[in-house]
Amino acid sequence: MYKILEKEVLAPKITKFKVLAPNVAAKAQPGHFLIVRVDEQAERIPLTIADYDRQEGSVTIIVQEVGYSSEEICKLEAGDSFLDLVGPLGEHIETENYKKVVCVAGGLGAAPLYPKAKSLSEEGTEVITILGARTKELIILEEDFAELSQQLYISTDDGSKGHQGFVTDVLKEVLEENDDIDLVITIGPMIMMKFVSGLTKEYGVNTMVSLNSLMVDGTGMCGGCRVTVGGETKFACVDGPAFDGHLVDFDEQLRRQQFYSDHEKLAHGHEIG
Ligand code: FES
Repeated sequence: MYKILEKEVLAPKITKFKVLAPNVAAKAQPGHFLIVRVDEQAERIPLTIADYDRQEGSVTIIVQEVGYSSEEICKLEAGDSFLDLVGPLGEHIETENYKKVVCVAGGLGAAPLYPKAKSLSEEGTEVITILGARTKELIILEEDFAELSQQLYISTDDGSKGHQGFVTDVLKEVLEENDDIDLVITIGPMIMMKFVSGLTKEYGVNTMVSLNSLMVDGTGMCGGCRVTVGGETKFACVDGPAFDGHLVDFDEQLRRQQFYSDHEKLAHGHEIG
């Protein structure tokens, strides 16, 4: 059993948990993820490690209520436990040898992006961060990013904070003003990562995305998380979740997400439309 040490609601339907898991914390690195299960009946949910503390033996996960299973997780309180917490899984990313990196997050994508930005900053990299969300209430980890970023931009769809519009508008300005960017890392909704990758391709800037594909076993056996990258089939759970954004077939991923979202609606008793 993996005990919840702290619970904090960061935004409507977005909750942060700090969980006691010393074996996972000892090996966790930026880019790794976990699979959690609340109880014997529950679905296995993949969640990126948003932070870890090796001394305390804890890992931090951030959960957005997007379906039945994530709603069940968010009902847990400090002192409750997860039945299973498997990890760290996936390939970690290297954060050495970069001079200037732009981190672009959409909504909950700020959570998996944070350990990467933190590690880059600790390596002496100049970090420019762009946090985007539909509205200001859904911007998370702003203070954490502010601490490690040389520049921090906020973008909201409704203009309630920062730039009104899309993160790509801000990124375009940043790319125009800086011709020495080594890498853009972007994590968020699939459609956002598609447009960020399209923009950076125009500017010839390497881009890393992290795919939140549906995962079942997390071991490369079930095929649930398959993705086409550079014309080859890869599995987000073992080959990723980080991939070269210029090579990912985003349209295929968007079609698959639609398929699963229809099933989720059925599970909730809603009509598909
Ligand atoms: Fe099953 Fe990746 S989750 S192959």
